[in-house]
Amino acid sequence: MNFEKYYTNRAKPLQASGIREMFKLMADPAVISLAGGSPDPDLFPTEELSEIAADILKNDGKKALAYGTTDGYGPLKEELKKRAEKVDSFTSEDKIIITTGGQQGLDLAARVVVEDNEDIVVEAPSFVGTLNSLRSVRANLIGVPMDSDGMNMEKLEETLKNRKVKLIYTIPNFQNPTGITMSLEKRKKMLELAKKYDCLIMEDNPYGDLRFGGEYVPTIKSLDTEGRVIYVSSMSKILSPGLRVGYIVCRAELCDKIEIMKQVNDVHTPCLTQMIACEFLKRYNIDDYIKKACEVYGRKCRFMLDCMDKYFPDGIEWTKPEGGLFILVTCPDTIDAVKLSEIAIKEYKVAFVPSNNFATDMSAKTSSFRLNYSTMPEDKIEEGIKAVGAMLTDMLK
Ligand SMILES: Cc1ncc(COP(=O)(O)O)c(C=O)c1O
Repeated sequence: MNFEKYYTNRAKPLQASGIREMFKLMADPAVISLAGGSPDPDLFPTEELSEIAADILKNDGKKALAYGTTDGYGPLKEELKKRAEKVDSFTSEDKIIITTGGQQGLDLAARVVVEDNEDIVVEAPSFVGTLNSLRSVRANLIGVPMDSDGMNMEKLEETLKNRKVKLIYTIPNFQNPTGITMSLEKRKKMLELAKKYDCLIMEDNPYGDLRFGGEYVPTIKSLDTEGRVIYVSSMSKILSPGLRVGYIVCRAELCDKIEIMKQVNDVHTPCLTQMIACEFLKRYNIDDYIKKACEVYGRKCRFMLDCMDKYFPDGIEWTKPEGGLFILVTCPDTIDAVKLSEIAIKEYKVAFVPSNNFATDMSAKTSSFRLNYSTMPEDKIEEGIKAVGAMLTDMLK
């Protein structure tokens, strides 16, 4: 049976992400994966979480297994509110709701504010999960290129002047896929432009805690006095992605609307995982775990950068992140990163993600690709980078 004719116009633009396809090939244990976006599983506090899960099911099982409220488990909301307050991303006019991962927060916000064919600005390149959420609400995606300190503000202003943009989507800290952090000046400028051209900003900050270099930069939400910023964050990268606990903070009125959208979407995020996350925050100091993660990612990132210096040929450029999980590599235009990644996985058993996956137009040619340093041990990082370097040297001959 051909189902094509049954698909809605919302579902039609959704394509299988190359990353998901790549995960299938990566099932081969011989493959060195520099393609993932996960935190290092060795950092998951499995013992602490299993003890907490057992305690909850034993002592509070009826609550953990019952229906909960859509806006989230109250004590967890309080704990996460405290974290958001720490970075001034929560004011007395705001509300918080727990979402099923940050992904759901981004998707719900898109569903609430984006109309068919509306112009939405995204960083070029950007996170595929949000691009797909925006595609599924039939947004017209406009990519604004990135400089080494965040979105190009001249291009942003030109776009806002010439189009009727409703929303700007940004990942200001250790962006996925570039690893770039937006400067404070640009954060202020983005807010000023949003005000001038009357649009909202969706600030996605799942990596903000994972800083291992440079100086802290305030969130855009903390600079916002009008309520233009919808702030989305998550426990995925600092505790565990499998718990699926994220949150959204924005002005109460907008938050109420998002809550109704969530109700029709999944009723609520599972009580059990919310209670586990909450109890972890109460029993342990998560900042100790974050500190350890930053040490590990900082070390692995420096190691990967050193390997790239050693093995990559001249003419290749790459970003130098101050946190997060990713480095973006840009090759001369003669290199097709999609072909490169196909050869890399089949012949060299190394996986990385070509940037077309992060583009508004996935079919456009790209000469850049994303590397991840969080999941592989250092010997595998070196082996993988050495192989990529050899391929690039060969291709550039
Ligand atoms: C930029 C960005 N935003 C949001 C998410 C969603 O993460 P989660 O739904 O696990 O919180 C991710 C995950 O990789 C991401 O990279």
